[in-house]
Amino acid sequence: MKISEMQIKRKNTSGTAEEIAFHRVIESAKAEEERICYDPYAIYFIGPELLKFFEATACNYPEAKARLKEMYRLFPGTQNSIVARVRYFDDYLQDSMAEGIKQLVILGAGYDTRAYRIEGLKEKVKVFEVDYPIIQKVKIEKIKEIFGSLPGHVVFINADVGSEELFKSLLEQGYNPSERTLFIMEGLIYYIPPEGVENLLSSIVQNSGPGSRIIFDYFPQSMVDGTCELEVGNLIHERVKQSGEPFKFGITDGTIEEFLKERGFSHIQNVTSEDYKKAYFYGKNENREVCSLYSFVHAMVEY
Ligand SMILES: C[S@@+](CC[C@H](N)C(=O)[O-])C[C@H]1O[C@@H](n2cnc3c(N)ncnc32)[C@H](O)[C@@H]1O
Repeated sequence: MKISEMQIKRKNTSGTAEEIAFHRVIESAKAEEERICYDPYAIYFIGPELLKFFEATACNYPEAKARLKEMYRLFPGTQNSIVARVRYFDDYLQDSMAEGIKQLVILGAGYDTRAYRIEGLKEKVKVFEVDYPIIQKVKIEKIKEIFGSLPGHVVFINADVGSEELFKSLLEQGYNPSERTLFIMEGLIYYIPPEGVENLLSSIVQNSGPGSRIIFDYFPQSMVDGTCELEVGNLIHERVKQSGEPFKFGITDGTIEEFLKERGFSHIQNVTSEDYKKAYFYGKNENREVCSLYSFVHAMVEY
């Protein structure tokens, strides 16, 4: 099978959500001392085609290994940046729990499994997972399959995260706007149109208790426009466009701090590819390349 044929099927679910789960599957299969992140549940969220591919790589079939290698050649560093993102967001969630967050809102949750795998979370934190109904349906079925029933600490919300409906739905389903909350937006913000991002950030500022925070990853505006200097940026741009989930929002280089400050956030920390490369890729992982286009940022709502 050619790389072009490996495009994730986007018939009735989010191909990007499945694709990110696939990255977690590949990383989680590595030895404990080598892997950057670990998600034992990710494997439940990949379809038969990717499962077959994963099994073939795990069994060291030369054709499957070659396909994976070709994917890494075409999209250099992306797998490593994505698994570093999972790890960084996990670490940030754990720090936020230590700081006493009471609620976690996962926007564009897709097949994120943090609510089920982060130790101590279910006892302390109420979780709201938000995505489109079609994704939530698949997710709920899988969660039941894994755990036998739906865990009581998670509320599933069907909403467009860039719309006015988001907080209406959250409030109706038990979200408390006075509590300290963490909002996670992983692999999401570039899929929301600029007016939706404005709406989302201002709604967070208006509807969250003291000490609340956000974390998200973002791409440069040039990648959204298709004018990126790096070939990999334009390849990713084309790929998501063809798949029906095109990029809509980017950040002009060097402006993220100003962008968030103007919208009511403080304690802004930008995390570049150099930062996470240094934090996670050492020893046996030292030579793993990351992709400079993937940056993360976290901030607190200013009161
Ligand atoms: C790249 S996937 C990331 C999923 C998950 N956060 C992760 O990191 O594994 C993007 C997810 O955002 C969801 N999404 C995109 N735009 C959205 C919107 N406007 N409202 C709600 N969900 C959205 C998609 O359905 C998909 O599940």
